[in-house]
Amino acid sequence: MSLQKKVKTAVFPVAGLGTRFLPATKAMPKEMLTIVDRPVIQLAVDEAREAGIEHFIFVTGRNKAVIEDHFDRQFELEETLAARGKTEELELLLKDLPQAGQSSFTRQQEPLGLGHAVWCARNLVGDEPFALLLPDMLIKAQPGCLAQMLETYEQTGGNVIAVEEVTPENISRYGVVGIGETIGSRAFQISSMVEKPPVEEAPSNLIISGRYILQPEIFAEIERQDPGAGGEIQITDAMIRLLEKQAFAGVRFSGKTYDCGDKVGFLAANVAYGLDREEFGDAFRTEIETILAGMKS
Ligand code: UTP
Repeated sequence: MSLQKKVKTAVFPVAGLGTRFLPATKAMPKEMLTIVDRPVIQLAVDEAREAGIEHFIFVTGRNKAVIEDHFDRQFELEETLAARGKTEELELLLKDLPQAGQSSFTRQQEPLGLGHAVWCARNLVGDEPFALLLPDMLIKAQPGCLAQMLETYEQTGGNVIAVEEVTPENISRYGVVGIGETIGSRAFQISSMVEKPPVEEAPSNLIISGRYILQPEIFAEIERQDPGAGGEIQITDAMIRLLEKQAFAGVRFSGKTYDCGDKVGFLAANVAYGLDREEFGDAFRTEIETILAGMKS
């Protein structure tokens, strides 16, 4: 039996403007961009479900109704698939759906930053620990990254953050953590956190990578906050303050991250997930090799 309060809720902030993907994101949220045939947001929900999450909270913004539709039933489509004997496709659609009452949607009326988006979920989360997944940080891992983090949480409780190494030239783009006492083979106490430090001031080469388990006291810290970098309310600033009162563990998860909010990361994710597909991975590899060979000649 675990001593820690179970993490049953996950928050997915999906209210960003996605300016780096215009014009694709003019009328469609970037979280609906697909990795082969699954929207980025679906992959994040898959990861949370696999980790035992039972309540999925989406913080949406303008143009995001399509995300609600994606996680709803489509009776007309289901009937058509059934009438045409497309049972496999039908089963696939139903399998992906959260059960009735498991999803909640709230709106971030203005894109005031990630911290503010998380704060918009406070009443839906209540006084419980929760997972926070940034869908565009896609993590290809087996078991999933959140499941790996929950193994550490079972031991430590408190707050847990997924971290990974980056090269020195990329450090100043991220939140960076300081490494304290070791916990098991992959985890450690976080001794400090700095948002976007110059490389010479970074406490390590480990960055915060888009998966968090947070205690509900984070909401009070967000509320006390003035806008930070870029005029936005940042989640890292609130975590830095919470670190003065509560423990944070860092988990060096095993897996590969694709930043799908960035064009190169998004394209690389499509290649990696495409090559992995049993039905057409080999054919896809041949296509890529042909393209590369054509460029060389
Ligand atoms: P990004 O930093 O990638 O920002 O957000 P963005 O606005 O979505 O994209 P660009 O930079 O304009 O291309 C990281 C995560 O936080 C959410 C985003 O939806 C994304 O999942 N977010 C960001 C919000 O929900 N609200 C915000 O105000 C900002």
